[in-house]
Amino acid sequence: MAKMFKGKNILFGVTGSIAVYKVIDVIRALVQEGANVSVIMTEASCKFITPLCIESTTGCKVFTDMFKDTFSHIELARKADLFVIAPATANIINKSANGIADDLLSTALLVYRGPLIFAPAMNWRMYENPVTQKNLQYLKTLGAKTVGPEPGLLACGEEGLGRMSEPDKIIEHIRSALTQQDMLNERVLVTAGPTREHIDPIRFISNRSSGKMGYAIARAAARRGAEVTLISGPTYLKIYDNIKLIEINSSDEMYNAVMENLSYATMLIMAAAVADYKPVKTFTEKIHKSNNFIIEFTQTKDILYEVGHLSKRPFVVGFSAETGPKVDRAKEKLFKKNIDMIVFNDISKSNSGFDVDTNEVVIIDRLEQKELPLMSKEEVAMEILNRAMQLKNF
Ligand code: CTP
Repeated sequence: MAKMFKGKNILFGVTGSIAVYKVIDVIRALVQEGANVSVIMTEASCKFITPLCIESTTGCKVFTDMFKDTFSHIELARKADLFVIAPATANIINKSANGIADDLLSTALLVYRGPLIFAPAMNWRMYENPVTQKNLQYLKTLGAKTVGPEPGLLACGEEGLGRMSEPDKIIEHIRSALTQQDMLNERVLVTAGPTREHIDPIRFISNRSSGKMGYAIARAAARRGAEVTLISGPTYLKIYDNIKLIEINSSDEMYNAVMENLSYATMLIMAAAVADYKPVKTFTEKIHKSNNFIIEFTQTKDILYEVGHLSKRPFVVGFSAETGPKVDRAKEKLFKKNIDMIVFNDISKSNSGFDVDTNEVVIIDRLEQKELPLMSKEEVAMEILNRAMQLKNF
């Protein structure tokens, strides 16, 4: 697992909502990814869950009492790189916007200067109340970020906007908040996953691509502040609302989606395993069993080649999946397809390429070739974007 939060001090405020049971997963994930987390619990939150429960499940120290360690409110706030309040009740939001400091958490909030995330959780009437809305807007103008709330069934039995976001979504926002925003001016188009070339309505040819590499690139670019559109073939992967998702099936659909979105993009990263061939004919009805059956294939459009040769095009990155150490083939594709960068990976290795969480790649451009060790796809994504940004700003 990538230690994204290594060396980071995160102050985690927990307030009194039934959603408190979800924060254990958030805090554990932050610790697993290398963060030093200190937790402040309000008196109300301790009615739902005990400090001991959080301490014993996460290993993090929990602070509750303003007067136990005289300067804890100052020290905790001063050393924090990020302050997260989850769940954030209407009470803490409204207090915080008005500078009220009447317990350890609200006092630490008043002391703190730095990135701040609220994950609201409350009854929808409390959330939509103009007072809460006005205070939330005010906190946002001061730089605070919010994640959620989500619509759905609330603890009180009513339906509405007020559920705290799920842990993985909160964690993704925390990752963004701790990532350098060096791609704020970029609009990145990423393709991912396999394509399906249909033979008849129920049968198709496809490949083993899971989409993990492309999704990791999309997430990494979004974390760095880019506006990201992800064109994805069928996968089981999840994406958050900070990325625009366009789902496609066939290579023709992927071609159309790329071309339609190209003028918007400053960068195209083609991580998708686009089929090179499609059946000449797609049957509209199910093909019934008979004797030997021969399918004739024709080549699909090479999207990367076509974009690479446009007179006006964004910065373009391709992938070259090879069976064996054929780096030269990747280099040839860089020139043949007239693109700016190509990422070689050897898919015959068990821990690299298709459907695994790691990859061992060589990043090739017109100036240099960089061999990277085996690393998580999250880390590979960061390396690819680092080099692309270097070349773009060259
Ligand atoms: N690609 C594409 N359109 C296609 C096929 C592939 O845009 N119809 C892109 C892939 O997204 C990838 C790159 O081209 O970024 C390399 O694909 P690959 O299959 O490795 O190379 P090919 O050009 O198809 O060459 P070969 O099959 O001979 O290896």
